[in-house]
Amino acid sequence: MDGNRCEIEKVLVSEEEIDSITTRIAAEIDRDYAGEDCQLVLLCILKGSIVFMGDLMKKVTVPLEIDCMKVSSYGAGTQTTGNVNIHLDLLRPDIDKCDILIIEDIIDSGVTLSYLKKYLIGKGAKSVRTCTLLDKPSRRKVEFTPDYCGTEIPDEFVVGYGLDYDEKYRALPYVGVLHPSVYSKE
Ligand code: IMP
Ligand code: MG
Repeated sequence: MDGNRCEIEKVLVSEEEIDSITTRIAAEIDRDYAGEDCQLVLLCILKGSIVFMGDLMKKVTVPLEIDCMKVSSYGAGTQTTGNVNIHLDLLRPDIDKCDILIIEDIIDSGVTLSYLKKYLIGKGAKSVRTCTLLDKPSRRKVEFTPDYCGTEIPDEFVVGYGLDYDEKYRALPYVGVLHPSVYSKE
């Protein structure tokens, strides 16, 4: 058995559930960005959203472009630092024409997405909405509601389907709860 999987306490969102989530959200995006004057840009927040973004973009049928930003609010562990650092910025001369949909893996404190949304509006984006696969509403430090949400989850540290702990577990095909013994030495 794959060593990674032994450290997963339980599967929280299965491959089948993720598949129906991406199908549903893609249909919502198709409905909301159907206008001819839309210039939809799916903005992948590296690295955690790579897998979700890849699956979701294949199911969206309206014309779209993709872009990436790399930000961090976490250090190596399981707690947010509360500060957002931009490691890779969005550099587009046509940002005033872009309808940006930020694709995030998970919302926890809300700090990252509320900062990013304000940041992109401040850069002059035509519109900015947010989409997350997972939401932990009980963990909010700042008020934030995403426009598109895969599923709400309880306050547990999860990995897989792009999400990591200390850069590991990203390639698991499902979202699982990490066994606390893995990070209890933090
Ligand atoms: P926020 O700024 O606190 O909302 O944090 C959002 C970011 O924290 C996400 O993009 C993830 O990178 C990370 N994060 C939050 N909760 C988890 C988790 O349970 N597993 C893995 N990463 C997480
Ligand atoms: Mg992330």
